[in-house]
Amino acid sequence: MIITGKYPQLRLRRNRKNEWSRRLTSENSLSVNDLILPIFIVDGKNKKIPIKSMPGVFRYSLDKLNSIVQSAINSGIPMIALFPYTKSYLKNSLGTESLNPNNLVCRACKLIKKKFKNKIGIMCDVALDPYTSHGHDGIYQKNDVENDETIKILVEQSLIQASSGCDVLAPSDMMDGRIGKIRKALDFNGFKHVQILSYAVKYASGYYGPFRDAVGSKNLLKGNKKTYQMDFKNSDEALREVALDIKEGADMVIVKPGLPYLDIIQKVKNNFKIPVIAYQVSGEYSMITNSIQKKIYNKDVIIETLTSFKRSGANAIITYFADKIAKEL
Ligand code: PBG
Repeated sequence: MIITGKYPQLRLRRNRKNEWSRRLTSENSLSVNDLILPIFIVDGKNKKIPIKSMPGVFRYSLDKLNSIVQSAINSGIPMIALFPYTKSYLKNSLGTESLNPNNLVCRACKLIKKKFKNKIGIMCDVALDPYTSHGHDGIYQKNDVENDETIKILVEQSLIQASSGCDVLAPSDMMDGRIGKIRKALDFNGFKHVQILSYAVKYASGYYGPFRDAVGSKNLLKGNKKTYQMDFKNSDEALREVALDIKEGADMVIVKPGLPYLDIIQKVKNNFKIPVIAYQVSGEYSMITNSIQKKIYNKDVIIETLTSFKRSGANAIITYFADKIAKEL
């Protein structure tokens, strides 16, 4: 680092004095191109159901999707992420509804692709938790999730979602070896253009609570997800996860949650130079939103927080604020 001169000749405040100068010397900026909007979907007609633990976020029935997606496109958001709320009678221990080509997510993909073609990207999670009666991301046996049996189903789920028009498959299950198997199956079945956005670094986190409420898995979850999601004490392990997923064919990687893991985002970016997506998860959204509602913060903290992801090296952010701030950018 080169520092020329010293106080009083040198004054770093000079560059900050005027707004134009602050703009001129800014190192990072947030734009609408950085935002991925998650959308919760639910069966039925004319539904817009508020999610109690996430003020301002709703579950929409498919007939409401057109206008939501249209306004995302209008504001320039490049991608949406679909998350289904599955009715409890469709859940079972194997999560078989995940393999129904006419399940909620698949119908949503088809609808959106038909109407909007390639004007916006569609991302779908690959994992079984929306569909299992025990709330785990895979096949649950003897108090654990069975890795290799789970992958077989995830591969099928990937193919079904890809054939419904999903552009970006995002395995969020944290099984070992699933990226390679999914990539191979996609290529073999004519989906070589479908991208894989791996949740490579996903921590077993307390911040997912409101999401599990939103997709209806909260009260079902048996135990916790610590045998497959990462331990928040670790960061070397995050680099190993990313290295493996890149080797297996991931196009981009997610670090999740977001704000408590900026150090991980920075390390991943510095080590791998691959597109890194931060996931500002449901609990982060709720904390900020609650504080804004109580007037503890004003809503400038949203942009401050999202910009911190850019500063740490993230290319984009999955955030429930996407639709709310896109117009301000
Ligand atoms: C499912 C999944 C989760 C989230 C995204 N995909 C929850 C979990 O792993 O329990 C969390 C997202 C959020 O909290 O916003 N595998």
